[in-house]
Amino acid sequence: MPKNYCGTMETYRLMIEQSGRKIAQAGDNVWMLAPVPDTTSLAKVAAASKSCTACPLYKNATQTVFGEGPKHATMMLLGEQPGDYEDVAGKPFVGPAGKILNRALEESGIDRAEVYVTNAVKHFKWEPRGKRRIHQKPSSRDIAACRPWLEAELRLVEPHLLVCLGSTAGQAVFGPAFRVTKERGKVLESPFGKKAVATVHPSSLLRQPNEESREREYKLFVADLRVAVKAAK
Ligand code: URA
Repeated sequence: MPKNYCGTMETYRLMIEQSGRKIAQAGDNVWMLAPVPDTTSLAKVAAASKSCTACPLYKNATQTVFGEGPKHATMMLLGEQPGDYEDVAGKPFVGPAGKILNRALEESGIDRAEVYVTNAVKHFKWEPRGKRRIHQKPSSRDIAACRPWLEAELRLVEPHLLVCLGSTAGQAVFGPAFRVTKERGKVLESPFGKKAVATVHPSSLLRQPNEESREREYKLFVADLRVAVKAAK
């Protein structure tokens, strides 16, 4: 229930239900679900996502960053949320993390033009620090509010394999107890009925303390992507 709503949870739930919007509930929290249109057109779903106000993140973001790639890609890459660059460009993984991801994709034999790339959360969540916009990790509520868009992407693209990049993507798919450190590089069965491989988020490579550990982690990342290539066949 929004902080500024003056009423009981029951009246809030009734208010949303009467407006025809779907709701989600976890404990005492009730929130609106993303308004995904009933269509088989990925372009129409993407267009509808542009005006999503299901959670408050749209207020501070420049735009919704929906997934992109071929409609029937065999592989779907799932990141966390758009960053500063993606928020401005309106496309996923075009900033520094995207550059290292592109390099690793190429090295593991994946053509980025042939995969569908998206995020668990479609708006950039940030807080101001001076003139900079500092990334904030999405909450489980942000992920839940955005989940219908991801479900629609999975339903319409029907990839053979989902690659979860980092803990937010892993938890969006497998639930909050999921640990990338424990499960990375394995072929898993996801609750969406698709095979999945989890690995680290490419931005974690950028945060490595030195060149040696960056190179080591980068090699492990490429090795996980190679597992994904085999599993997607
Ligand atoms: N990090 C993500 O998780 N997704 C993007 O699109 C960019 C950075």
